[in-house]
Amino acid sequence: MKVVGISGSLREKSYNTIVLRLILKRFEGLGVEANMLPISTFPLYNPDERIVAKAIVDDANRQIANAHLVIFTLPEYNHSISGPLKNAIDWLSEPYMSSVFKDKPIALIGVAPSPVGSARAIAHMKTIMGSLLARLYNRRDLVVGEIHNKVDEEGQVKDAAFQEMLEVYVRELKDWLRINS
Ligand SMILES: Cc1cc2nc3c(=O)[nH]c(=O)nc-3n(C[C@H](O)[C@H](O)[C@H](O)COP(=O)(O)O)c2cc1C
Repeated sequence: MKVVGISGSLREKSYNTIVLRLILKRFEGLGVEANMLPISTFPLYNPDERIVAKAIVDDANRQIANAHLVIFTLPEYNHSISGPLKNAIDWLSEPYMSSVFKDKPIALIGVAPSPVGSARAIAHMKTIMGSLLARLYNRRDLVVGEIHNKVDEEGQVKDAAFQEMLEVYVRELKDWLRINS
């Protein structure tokens, strides 16, 4: 089983990237191959630049096609997903109605210092992924608010309830994948 993780933040000390690493590490602990797919390499979307972007887009498409699950961690900017993430998704959204996300199991995690934890970004992402016909893990969106109280900047979890939440989330998600694949 293979999992690909995509963080919507380019920030070096991004909380979303920290939480994604924690999740992927737990998948690895369950014997699942887990890799992060960076979005910083995608140029600004321009259909005229398809040839320039081809190697980056082909590689990302190959990684996602080979994955049984794509996990997104979503920073919230102005009540939506980040511009860099939308940019990468736009590159990966072709061919129309049969992109790499069609029927792909995906899970959404929203991480933010605010108490509402990127919930609105998750809602927007559901619309975007719905348009690409992805298969959403709807049992539980992991909405993580007040993240600065739960992990430190080095990625150490400092909250026992959050630690437990991560373990349960990964176990349940893996069960869902097993039942649905
Ligand atoms: C321009 C801008 C807009 C933001 N808008 C929101 C928002 O709408 N909702 C929210 O919860 N946090 C918002 N934030 C705070 C981000 O959630 C916070 O910076 C977060 O740490 C970014 O994610 P990262 O740590 O993964 O980089 C905003 C931050 C910036 C700089």
